[in-house]
Amino acid sequence: MTDEFDKNYWEARWASTHGPSSLPPHPALNTELTDLRPGTVIDAGSGEGAEAAWLAVHGWAVTAVDISPHAVTRASASTTSNAEGGSVTWVEADLTEWEPDQQVDLVTTFYAHPTMPQHAFYQRISEWVAPRGTLLIVGHHHDDRSGGSHGHPENALARIEQVRDLLDPSDWVVHTAEIRERIVASRGDALVTLRDVIIQARRT
Ligand SMILES: C[S@@+](CC[C@H](N)C(=O)[O-])C[C@H]1O[C@@H](n2cnc3c(N)ncnc32)[C@H](O)[C@@H]1O
Repeated sequence: MTDEFDKNYWEARWASTHGPSSLPPHPALNTELTDLRPGTVIDAGSGEGAEAAWLAVHGWAVTAVDISPHAVTRASASTTSNAEGGSVTWVEADLTEWEPDQQVDLVTTFYAHPTMPQHAFYQRISEWVAPRGTLLIVGHHHDDRSGGSHGHPENALARIEQVRDLLDPSDWVVHTAEIRERIVASRGDALVTLRDVIIQARRT
């Protein structure tokens, strides 16, 4: 366990973050999901809600889960969540304990790193994908040095090979397994290059 990234950590981080995020929804939404027919989706570690809002605008019924009350309150207050037939249900919960009532058509996660080891977290949320559903994982690559406002210890980082190994080939078809970089600036910070692991897989 990485107690460093517990509820107190995330709540303090979001409580001390002011002003709107200047980060756009993650580009993997466009590259990996636009061919899918919208259905139900869980966004695991939804933060300020940019990706959940994108999904709702594109017709998905989103359950956006985050451990931080500040993040959930801010996201629900600032996002338009009822467009094109989509919706967002905001849930404040610890994803290492919370379970959905039923499997969903899509599970997404963008940079979430909880107290449990990263790959065990991915294994856990992959089980929430229904047959013929899709999993989209975006994580900090293990040699990402951006750090942002916090450092990333080894067990908060993702490795393509290890994520692939979680996905039994008799149960999953991996469509994307790539490292991608992007340059971002948030809230007036200096530009930083993020190095992401992107995995998109379909359950058979
Ligand atoms: C680095 S932020 C990313 C937020 C958002 N997905 C984005 O890309 O902007 C990680 C998020 O995961 C949430 N988180 C961390 N551990 C969690 C847990 N155990 N259960 C639910 N959410 C958690 C944090 O509160 C935070 O909002």
